[in-house]
Amino acid sequence: MNAIATAAALSVPISFCRPSKLDFNKGLRGRFRVLAVFREELGKKNEWDALFHVEDPRSKVPQYKGKFFDIYQVLEVARYDIQYCDWRARQDVLTIMLLHEKVVEVLNPLAREYKSIGTMKKELAELQEELAQAHRQVHISEARVATALDKLAYMEELVNDRLLQDRSTTVVDQTSSSPSTSAQSMDVEKRRLPRKGLNVSGPVESYHPRLKNFWYPIAFSSDLKDDTMIPIECFEEPWVIFRGNDGKPGCIQNTCAHRACPLHLGSVNEGRIQCPYHGWEYTTDGKCEKMPSTRLLNVKIKSLPCFEKDGMIWIWPGNEPPAAIPPSLLPPSGFEIHAEIVMELPIEHGLLLDNLLDLAHAPFTHTSTFAKGWSVPSLVKFLTPASGLQGYWDPYPIDMEFRPPCMVLSTIGISKPGKLEGQNTKQCATHLHQLHVCLPSSKQKTRLLYRMSLDFAPLLKHVPLMQYLWRHFAEQVLNEDLRLVVGQQERMNKGANVWNLPVSYDKLGVRYRLWRDALERGAKQLPFTK
Ligand code: FES
Ligand SMILES: [Fe+2]
Repeated sequence: MNAIATAAALSVPISFCRPSKLDFNKGLRGRFRVLAVFREELGKKNEWDALFHVEDPRSKVPQYKGKFFDIYQVLEVARYDIQYCDWRARQDVLTIMLLHEKVVEVLNPLAREYKSIGTMKKELAELQEELAQAHRQVHISEARVATALDKLAYMEELVNDRLLQDRSTTVVDQTSSSPSTSAQSMDVEKRRLPRKGLNVSGPVESYHPRLKNFWYPIAFSSDLKDDTMIPIECFEEPWVIFRGNDGKPGCIQNTCAHRACPLHLGSVNEGRIQCPYHGWEYTTDGKCEKMPSTRLLNVKIKSLPCFEKDGMIWIWPGNEPPAAIPPSLLPPSGFEIHAEIVMELPIEHGLLLDNLLDLAHAPFTHTSTFAKGWSVPSLVKFLTPASGLQGYWDPYPIDMEFRPPCMVLSTIGISKPGKLEGQNTKQCATHLHQLHVCLPSSKQKTRLLYRMSLDFAPLLKHVPLMQYLWRHFAEQVLNEDLRLVVGQQERMNKGANVWNLPVSYDKLGVRYRLWRDALERGAKQLPFTK
């Protein structure tokens, strides 16, 4: 990347790292007594120590000479910006706490005995003014943090672009050492131009075994009644889930040990699944406990580790020992789940994830549904302050996260159902939360679990047939995508690269592909994960 362009574009905030005009020590002058009282409190509450005893980073600001910085210097400066903002915010909180202590002290009944009402009123008025000043300072700090994070995210985007360019340039260099004719030279020259591309071309291959070593949600709990079963395909193998006598779910192969009849065509009785052909019965761990009309043999079919949490049933399809139970996929507090929908789709799960992690397509693709009437912004960006797999869209009030191995979580700010509004998600009064789980079924099939939650209109849950209406909406939106993604898949199968030329708004999709690529290569440290 051009360092000059970078620094110029960023307008590197040198002043940002310099001491603020609002000097904390000066601000506290004359309050040593309060500080002493507070320090006694601190002695009792050691946990506060860690919060406030943070070294002032201003003495360590990197000093670079020259008008323009290279990218590493810029990142270093940005890092100090963030450290300074953090330190400043802690001092602001400390100031407010000290002032609150002081208020308590002034209002102390013992103090009233030796202070006149007039003195107390005067002291309280002064404290009020100081508190107001401290709160103003907090707002300034908040704005600084937001600006610093935005700049950091932007820089990160530039660095990522650079990494992508390096990656494709390396690939090109490998091919450019062949002997050249003039026609070849031109071809090589053309290919030498740095292009940003990933290679995700077809045909769609079988899933890499490393992708199996994760917990996968496969069904909503509410869909699995005591006497029902759910057949699923996962990594090209047929499985069936049902509940045992204890009510806990189990996942066993959906193929009878006797003569390979699909078990899900049978029934569940007393916690066992019965094959519809000759009546053999299996428990949730795959043990055959009944073989009518013959002597019972010692037979066990394959089963997978399985658990149920927060309304979902999860399995571990990999060969490695199962990892710890993953974090909940429930919406944040304040949200109510309104719809849980399952769909079987004729596309590879990676292509579906690419689609879900992309919002820039909305005003072009979803013109009959949620993006009807949306204007096309001059610039769409996905900002990732945490350098990971989550961030927010600009200019849309939407936060989004890719959660490995196959989940997308998003929170959409809305003013009234169906209408987007506001600068960012937090500024919107009402929100819709979505979970998409894209379970890899087979090479060109995905089992999609969709959960939709709202933090408003709780009564909608009780409107009759609302579930059907939500399903209808979800299918309409998905169909708008599906015809395009099916088309991509067809071209991919004929060798087209579906990530031929990613641009800045493709950041999250590209990160998913880089994460998956590293996983399949067996990288020790996966990118974008802590
Ligand atoms: S095939 Fe299942 S019992 Fe015979
Ligand atoms: Fe879409």
